[in-house]
Amino acid sequence: MDNTYIPVQMKVENILIEDPAKTLRTFDLSFINSEDKERFKYMPGQFCEFSILGRGESPFGIASSPTEQDFLRFTVNRTGLVTNEIHYLQKGDEVGIRGPLGNWYPVEKFKGENVVIVGGGFAFTTLRSLLIYLLEHRKDYGEITVIYGARNPDLFIYKDEIAEWEKRDDLNLHLTIDKEVDGWNKMVGFVPTVVKELAPKAEKTWCVVCGPPIMIKYTLPVLVELKFPNDRIYTSLERKMKCGIGKCGRCNIGSKYVCIDGPVFSLEQLNTISEAF
Ligand code: FES
Repeated sequence: MDNTYIPVQMKVENILIEDPAKTLRTFDLSFINSEDKERFKYMPGQFCEFSILGRGESPFGIASSPTEQDFLRFTVNRTGLVTNEIHYLQKGDEVGIRGPLGNWYPVEKFKGENVVIVGGGFAFTTLRSLLIYLLEHRKDYGEITVIYGARNPDLFIYKDEIAEWEKRDDLNLHLTIDKEVDGWNKMVGFVPTVVKELAPKAEKTWCVVCGPPIMIKYTLPVLVELKFPNDRIYTSLERKMKCGIGKCGRCNIGSKYVCIDGPVFSLEQLNTISEAF
């Protein structure tokens, strides 16, 4: 669909409840019209506006990878009116999707080199898209390291897939939780501290960071300290968006709009547009 104002109609194919408190649900959607499916080309890091007729819309990063052609995946944290309505959706319900919107992680630049993915909490959505994409093109990339943190073990999303990723010998996966809990035998500590401790090598390596703003804020300086060049550190700032197409003015950072200039920015770019980084 070329007109970004008009949503394409999609059907809820599957719903997965990600956490015991049921605040995180993952929705797999299928295209109702085959022409829409043909036209909808996206890359890891892009987002869509997810709408329910008469109930409003909200932006979410695409959690599926373009290599997964049968569905589009979104994981939704229940935080307000629209996300509450989305949580009421049942299998078979119809929804609208506007997109794909924004830019994407520069996977072409990553080719032949190492990639470190650093994620926090339920913001692992577009990082899942990126990771699946890299694993589907495994030969094109060097070492892949994932550092993924959550407040507690219940709050990791995609737990079944994490279990599968842990078995792979072509992926270094490090999971961490904020504070010790019974039965947890992996890492404990906040993501920036764990990144510092693991100290992934910066040489010929690209790093992608996505998570809560506070995690991003404290992780970026650690990566700089580890000698990652600013133009090899990428982050996604999808948090402030509303309309997704440069109209509402809600998402500006300095002179840029997150929705149309991002949501993916290198630290080099962020340093030029805002003193916040
Ligand atoms: S989300 Fe409206 S201008 Fe960016």
